[in-house]
Amino acid sequence: MQLWLLAIASCLFLRAGRALMQSRIIGGHVAAPNSIKYMVSLQRSSRQHFCGGSLVHRYWVLTAAHCNIGADQMMIVAGDYKVNIFEGTEQYAKPHKLVVHPSYNSSTNNADIMLIKLRAPMVLNKFVSLAPLPRQGTGVVEGHLCQVSGWGHVRVSGGGQVPVKLRTVTVPIVSAARCNGSDSFNGNITANMICAGYPSGGKDACKGDSGGPLVCRGRVYGMVSWGNGCGDAQFPGVYTAVSRFRRWIDQTIYGP
Ligand SMILES: *[C@@H]1O[C@H](CO)[C@@H](O)[C@H](O)[C@H]1NC(C)=O
Ligand SMILES: *[C@@H]1O[C@H](CO)[C@@H](O)[C@H](O)[C@H]1NC(C)=O
Ligand SMILES: *[C@@H]1O[C@H](CO)[C@@H](O)[C@H](O)[C@H]1NC(C)=O
Repeated sequence: MQLWLLAIASCLFLRAGRALMQSRIIGGHVAAPNSIKYMVSLQRSSRQHFCGGSLVHRYWVLTAAHCNIGADQMMIVAGDYKVNIFEGTEQYAKPHKLVVHPSYNSSTNNADIMLIKLRAPMVLNKFVSLAPLPRQGTGVVEGHLCQVSGWGHVRVSGGGQVPVKLRTVTVPIVSAARCNGSDSFNGNITANMICAGYPSGGKDACKGDSGGPLVCRGRVYGMVSWGNGCGDAQFPGVYTAVSRFRRWIDQTIYGP
């Protein structure tokens, strides 16, 4: 089992092994500048991108629970396109608090979802907007084409960080029955997960894309969660099923 967080200083990095060589959105293409306006980059204090997320409210970001590196280590960047290059469209906010889903289990990756409340609101403009979410309990059928986006791994060469443009790739939904089958994830898929990928592999999310949106019918139905390698024909990408958590999201943001 492999998480798609860029965790330079942790054991996840070691566990990732060879897959680091191909460590961004696989088989995709560069997104048009600022075309996915709700996409945010989660960065370390050192400004290194490590996860993606979606702005769901001016004060709130939706991401994966395994992207939790602690609130004081984290900076959220909205309106970004080339990560690590200042383009004048970026907005920065620190977390006020992190709300990890109470059912999150880091050994099974079940309920891999977290909300981040920002200290100051993002300003909605030409470069920053809110992500449309699916209604509670709605699904997408097998074969439906969805789009996943991310900055993936930001390589470090000669001490400098290479700018990376946002990338995106289209992948079809894979049924839970197939994804959970003995020739794939063999019982490790829960009802809180959805799978997406081509039977031939080659197109996928990868490390550093964690927490980023899988968009179907214009809504964020999934968030990059985990997998086994990247772009492997036998193992589709596994995403948190956002529609299972719509009520929790609304209660967390708007509740008492
Ligand atoms: C996580 O899931 C495993 C396997 O179902 C279970 O044994 C373990 O107790 C769970 N951990 C937590 C913290 O719920
Ligand atoms: C399923 O989960 C078990 C227990 O965590 C693990 O040993 C096994 O490798 C997993 N299989 C796949 C295909 O992910
Ligand atoms: C996947 O298989 C396991 C083991 O049979 C089962 O407990 C789980 O409910 C299945 N997941 C889905 C989404 O059906």
